[in-house]
Amino acid sequence: MRKVEVISVNLGRRSYPIHIGERVSRIGKVIKELGLGKKILVITNNKVFHYYGETIKRDLEKRGYSVNIVKVPIGEKYKSINQAIGLYEKCVNCKLERNSTILALGGGVINDLAGFVAATYLRGINFIAVPTTLLAQVDASIGGKVGVDLPQAKNLVGSFYQPRAVLIDPEVLKTLPSREMRTGMSEIVKYGIIRDKSLFEYLEKNLERIKKLETNALQRVIVESVRIKAKIVSQDEREEKGEREILNFGHTIGHSIEAAEGYQGCRHGEAISIGMLKATEIAVAMHFCSPRLLLRMGELLKRMRLPTKPLIKSGVDEGKIYKSLFLDKKKKGGKLRFILPRRLGDVFICENVPFHLIRKVLQGGDK
Ligand SMILES: NC(=O)c1ccc[n+]([C@@H]2O[C@H](COP(=O)([O-])OP(=O)(O)OC[C@H]3O[C@@H](n4cnc5c(N)ncnc54)[C@H](O)[C@@H]3O)[C@@H](O)[C@H]2O)c1
Ligand SMILES: [Zn+2]
Repeated sequence: MRKVEVISVNLGRRSYPIHIGERVSRIGKVIKELGLGKKILVITNNKVFHYYGETIKRDLEKRGYSVNIVKVPIGEKYKSINQAIGLYEKCVNCKLERNSTILALGGGVINDLAGFVAATYLRGINFIAVPTTLLAQVDASIGGKVGVDLPQAKNLVGSFYQPRAVLIDPEVLKTLPSREMRTGMSEIVKYGIIRDKSLFEYLEKNLERIKKLETNALQRVIVESVRIKAKIVSQDEREEKGEREILNFGHTIGHSIEAAEGYQGCRHGEAISIGMLKATEIAVAMHFCSPRLLLRMGELLKRMRLPTKPLIKSGVDEGKIYKSLFLDKKKKGGKLRFILPRRLGDVFICENVPFHLIRKVLQGGDK
């Protein structure tokens, strides 16, 4: 028997449960408990539908829901306003009403796009997330950031719109390509470093079990990660109090690498792996943390087959990284903010990292 764990995001009237370890085939039960309307539009893509779509459709219909399916082409470039327009048309054709539901079945791309449509159609209808990548399970589906990309930049249009419930089934990760698995693992390492020493240590000790997709081990790290994100979101939903900002550990440099590569190069988690190491190198150089932490992080990320090498040697354009770093700085009122670790489970926001140090770590430092 699998154990289902329920973690809640506490936001008053907009609080919602995250069911972890529940089978996708039991989605009908989860939705039934919420007392939503009878019409459900499932937004997914061909690949994910092939694996899990029929199971979900069958269960919902068995429970008396009227289900429509819409498939979005695969890829980040379809997280766009044009796709959203197509989906609004589908909402009209299916005669969705205020009490109807949009169910996102897929990775972060589907989550953000479907959530955006749910947030805006009829000024907001019910949204349910069934994330099927590790990254979406531990990150994108929790916290209500929904949106689309514009040609100018990623996630430029969107909203904070919380789902009514999230169902996380670790079993669906069995069909996920290993590179996608690794990109999600990077965010789990992040949670360990920012808030949970024992999660980091669990990863060190149980990585082989996780690599073999042992359900119990996977569930444990997903539960711990979701618990951390749910708590932070409950405290600082709209990223106004600094609390939610610590989730950006590794992301200042990570985002710049992704942008420098025009989002065509490495996966998000791969860029974050390098970003976390570079932020920690900065923390070591500024004497905020010990070199031992950097070694442990590097070791763990390497075992996960995430990139750890100095950037310039892996052929990323250094100039483009700086350009995007400083664009980021402009957005944040002239200060480049880094999340730096003090020790495992403890990070802080630092605004005075000297530029020469950023350069030095990006070029590979003294290595
Ligand atoms: N909203 C947030 O807070 C938040 C947080 C982090 C990332 N994101 C967004 O998430 C997106 C990235 O998400 P992602 O990494 O999940 O990528 P993705 O959604 O592109 O999915 C990756 C690939 O895996 C496939 N796939 C999904 N589930 C599968 C399964 N179970 N079996 C086999 N294949 C499967 C998809 O079809 C796709 O080809 C980005 O757009 C990013 O901006 C949002
Ligand atoms: Zn991230």
